[in-house]
Amino acid sequence: MAQLPIITAPDPRLKIKARPVPAVDDKIRRLMDDMLDTMYGAIGVGLAAPQVGQSSRVIVLDVAREGEKPQPLKLANPEIIWHSEELMTGNEGCLSLPEHYAEVTRPAAIRLRYLDYQNEIREMEASGLLGMCLQHEIDHLDGILFVDHISALKRGMILRKLAKAKRSRAPATAA
Ligand code: NI
Repeated sequence: MAQLPIITAPDPRLKIKARPVPAVDDKIRRLMDDMLDTMYGAIGVGLAAPQVGQSSRVIVLDVAREGEKPQPLKLANPEIIWHSEELMTGNEGCLSLPEHYAEVTRPAAIRLRYLDYQNEIREMEASGLLGMCLQHEIDHLDGILFVDHISALKRGMILRKLAKAKRSRAPATAA
């Protein structure tokens, strides 16, 4: 397994709708394994393929708390086929928007269809932290970031700070 570089906002690659994978084959399994490695290395609870520059509908998650048994999830082509009317609000962050957090409101429960690591079609229901993270990662596959769910004022503030941080990190280029 290998750790991949994580793309941070603002970056046009984070705004593109990712392509469905034709099947979960060895290449996709390797991407899933590398993404999980990358996510654990960055101390994240979820990661979507566009965040490592891959336009593929692949996400990985592990919402187990510190000290709990790991619960890695590797999903391809996840699709929300039902969501509750009831909403929940949680504090979200993102490895592509480092050090920024905001309250985001989403459906409290969802039902999902996806392809698993063995290329089998599966369904699962999720709520709470897992439901929130799944919706956040699936958003990434459609080019949506958590800041797209908050006020334009707050979004602008976060993205400006990230752009500034990025400029100060960029190596000087010869004109
Ligand atoms: Ni994210």
